Amino acid sequence: MKLPVSRRTAVACGVSVVMLLTGGSIAGAAPAPGSGSAALAAAPDIPVANVKAHLAQLQSIATANGGNRAHGRAGYKASLDYVKAKLDAAGFTTAIQQFTSSGRTGYNLVADWPGGDADHVVMAGSHLDSVTAGPGINDNGSGSAAVLETALAVSRAGYHPAKHLRFAWWGAEELGMVGSRYYVNNLSSANRARIGGYLNFDMIGSPNPGYFVYDDDPTIEKTFKDYFAGIGVPTEIETEGDGRSDHAPFKNAGVPVGGLFSGADYTKTAAQAAKWGGTAGRAFDRCYHSSCDTSANIDDTALNRNADAVAYALWALSS
Ligand code: TRP
Ligand code: ZN
Repeated sequence: MKLPVSRRTAVACGVSVVMLLTGGSIAGAAPAPGSGSAALAAAPDIPVANVKAHLAQLQSIATANGGNRAHGRAGYKASLDYVKAKLDAAGFTTAIQQFTSSGRTGYNLVADWPGGDADHVVMAGSHLDSVTAGPGINDNGSGSAAVLETALAVSRAGYHPAKHLRFAWWGAEELGMVGSRYYVNNLSSANRARIGGYLNFDMIGSPNPGYFVYDDDPTIEKTFKDYFAGIGVPTEIETEGDGRSDHAPFKNAGVPVGGLFSGADYTKTAAQAAKWGGTAGRAFDRCYHSSCDTSANIDDTALNRNADAVAYALWALSS
């Protein structure tokens, strides 16, 4: 949904026109820009109301299960079941991957969109677990809901890109990226080599937001930067702890990675408040890992822009 943003360009009939600028390892068989092949793909505008509806469901799940959605707790499995049911109804091939951490069973959810070149997989993922202290709506309901709604948008659009699309929701990130590491460790080297890129979304609706792009694979980074340049929103490189989320196991295994982040417990500077708005001298997310990380702990504009960026990048990198 288009909230009033300053300069949104290349918009027609609710569809963003995406100029494909691929290059580097994720580019695979994509046509070179200007090669004469179809170089335009339409990425949908992700309805932020739908993303927020998923967050409301995750909040209800936490409330009904002792106030959290943490690894090994009932609220985690209920969150996974919610996401899985949506994906199954939309035509995805879903699989639950089970693991054990700290004596409790954990679960990853992996959803494949049928079709595309199995040798060129583009993956998007986010961790679905919260800490035990709270419901984890920004960390990381926000990424989980945006990735879910992007997957549902793939289905609604009947999008059949050249590459194969895979979505994942990780368990036990808050225990040290346990689920994503388990997934990567259990990939055969052939299947790992088929993944041309992994895009990670962890905390993308922070209440006092910044717009941070991971400084990893140059093609993925440029794709996100192009999106934000197109809507006139300045970005910075993510510096609040490189390797602190589920892209780390992929990166360590040699998979090109990228992602977005709107800030955790670091303090927004005066310069950052001048360009992004919000409050200088206050954390990007004062409720990080706390009981107040509820559905009230979300900036709708940040959530909207970042969810649209998820779809933009996924479309641009998979055509
Ligand atoms: N889940 C991460 C954590 O609890 C949140 C986080 C902190 C993060 N810093 C980050 C995510 C930097 C991505 C990038 O530590
Ligand atoms: Zn997190």
